[in-house]
Amino acid sequence: MLVAIPNLLTPQQVAYARQKLDAAANWIDGAATAGVLAKQVKRNRQIDQSHHVGQEIGQMILKALASNGTFMSAAQPVKVLPPKFNRYEGGEHYGAHIDNAVMDIPASGGVRLRADLSMTVFFSEPGEYDGGELRVLDTYGHQAIKLPAGHAILYTATSLHEVTPVTRGIRTSSFFWIQSMIRDDGRRSMLYELGEVIHSLAATHPDHPSLAGFLGHYHKLLQRWTDV
Ligand code: NI
Repeated sequence: MLVAIPNLLTPQQVAYARQKLDAAANWIDGAATAGVLAKQVKRNRQIDQSHHVGQEIGQMILKALASNGTFMSAAQPVKVLPPKFNRYEGGEHYGAHIDNAVMDIPASGGVRLRADLSMTVFFSEPGEYDGGELRVLDTYGHQAIKLPAGHAILYTATSLHEVTPVTRGIRTSSFFWIQSMIRDDGRRSMLYELGEVIHSLAATHPDHPSLAGFLGHYHKLLQRWTDV
C-alpha cells in the first residue's frame, strides 16, 4: 500500500508548525532512538512527544487525520503512535532499513502497537532542499516520494525504505506508525480500492440500482477481515 494524502494540513497549520519546530532548541541525535541495525545507517536529528512542541504539533496532526476521509478509508486505523519529527541537513540521511514491527506506546502502561503502516508528513516545500527523497521499495519497485508541505504519504510499514542525503537546505517532516483494523496489506488495499470505486459510482450515478449491493459487499468484507 502506498497512498498519498494531499492537503492533510492547511498552509496556515504548516506555517504555525514550522515556526514552532524551527524555534525548538533540543533536537537530539536520531541514532539515539534507532534499533541496533538502523543505528548504523541513521544520520538525522529528531524530537518526539516528550517535547512540548512535538506534543502540540503531534496533536494537530492526529486531529487532522481523524477528519481526513482518504486516511480513514486507506488506513482503517485502530491505534496511531504519537507523531515524532525529524530534520535532515548538511548531507544527513537515513540509509535503507525496515522499521520495528511492534512498538511500545509511550506512557500507556505497556500497551503495544503492531506497525502495519508508516506515515510521513512533509513540512518543507520540495524547492527548499535538494535530495531528501523518501524512497520506498514496494511491489512495483522503488518509489521516490517528495511531496509539498502539508501533504503526507502512507506506506506499508514492513517496506524497505530510506531517506536520501539532503545536500542543500533543511528537510523537516513528521513520522509515525499506525495499527490498522485490517492487518493484511493486500486485503486493506483491496478494500480501499473497492471503497474508492463505490464512492466514484455514488458520485456519478447516485441512483444506480447496484450501488446498495456493492456497498453491502464492502461491509461484508470489512466485517470478515476486521480485527479490533
Ligand atoms: Ni524508517
